[in-house]
Amino acid sequence: MKRYIIKGGKRLFGEVDVSGSKNASLPILAATIISGKKSKLYNLPDIEDVRVTLEILKSLGAKVKKDSNKVIIDSKCIRCTVIPDNLMRKLRSSVIIAGAIIARFKEVSFTYPGGCDIGARPIDLHLENFKKIGIKINENCRYIECKCDKIESRNIVLDFPSVGATENLVLASVIGNQEVVINNAAKEPEIIDLANFLNKMGAKVYGAGTNSIKIKGVNSLKEVSYKIMPDRIEASTLLIAGAITSGSVKVNKVNPEDISVVLSKLKETGCEITVEKQSVKLIAPAKLRPVNFKTTPYPGFPTDVQPMFTTLLTLAKGTSIVTENIFENRFKFLQELKRMGIKITEIDGKTVVIKGVRKLHQAELYATDLRGAASMILAALAAKGTTTVNNIEYLLRGYECLDKKLNQLGADVLREEGD
Ligand code: UD1
Repeated sequence: MKRYIIKGGKRLFGEVDVSGSKNASLPILAATIISGKKSKLYNLPDIEDVRVTLEILKSLGAKVKKDSNKVIIDSKCIRCTVIPDNLMRKLRSSVIIAGAIIARFKEVSFTYPGGCDIGARPIDLHLENFKKIGIKINENCRYIECKCDKIESRNIVLDFPSVGATENLVLASVIGNQEVVINNAAKEPEIIDLANFLNKMGAKVYGAGTNSIKIKGVNSLKEVSYKIMPDRIEASTLLIAGAITSGSVKVNKVNPEDISVVLSKLKETGCEITVEKQSVKLIAPAKLRPVNFKTTPYPGFPTDVQPMFTTLLTLAKGTSIVTENIFENRFKFLQELKRMGIKITEIDGKTVVIKGVRKLHQAELYATDLRGAASMILAALAAKGTTTVNNIEYLLRGYECLDKKLNQLGADVLREEGD
């Protein structure tokens, strides 16, 4: 078990670079399967979820050459269309690889994906809409087997703008003569990044970033070099680290527009925010003000930032109300934070009332999921004394060197490999 040992109570000051986006990297890595050619990716974050995705690509037959944040993937030799169960279970976005394999081979077999326990996370929208574009699905006790002769032209409407289902459908529809329109599509910036990557390879994906995406099939895709977009969740985490420690932090290499709703909520807490083209500076107020917010699909408040922002509000002067509308288990981390003296009341599974406290106490904590782990680290930075956050494996799935970045800003975070 890996852990961070954090001596809290230090104000964070300075500048830090944001890494490439986890949630953009994963579908883009999947998309490299489709071309059967070489793809060169820059700004790929060095995180566990990327390592597992590269393992999946290799298990299918791809050649992968990785050098820090750059990777070259040659998918020419891929022949296998079965995603291994042991890797499938390691992350949720493994399911998106199915769409890419279907696009290239018109068949794929996989098992149910794993990932953080933040809710039920079914894949019904993926499968239901695969069927609508002509993919036949046979679910047996071992595998979900998908097959089609060709992808069919369809105008489909998603019941919910699921990020993963939108990406899977885009990927599956890239090759062929068909035209697929996805209505009520997710609008997240990572979907725009995926579409930009596919279009640079020669695909015809229109309307990404709006709720209607049109994919005109093409015959083939070509080699490509592409730089992954910045991670908006990491950028938000680092800014909140500045806010929760009464510090002043500037994050560089970020798209400020992608985090505008988070920035506006940070302003409501009293933080001073200065936005430049690719950077954001935050100066924390003497006392944080309480804020209410609800998570919704993009461009609303991101569920992935909810745990960190909720943690910030535990130290605001007054009462805040937070509603989580996307994942039902996303308040689990608060049970751990109770050990530090936070005051919360859960109204129902979706809503918590947070009564701000003056300070947090040191504690021994156990991370429960990726963003829960980040929240515990933020709380530890603000608490007086030494806090241990165990189960840092969750954090390493999605943050590149968070300990080093925080230490660069003046924190005292020690990473221990543990037993
Ligand atoms: C992606 C992000 C994740 C983020 C989430 C919402 C990646 C790798 N992960 O996850 O960080 O928190 O978007 O912004 O990009 N749902 C169904 N059936 C389905 C699919 C989804 O009911 O077939 C439900 C989910 O249980 C959840 C909601 O839809 O309640 C949103 O899920 P979705 O947008 O699909 O999230 P992911 O793609 O899993």
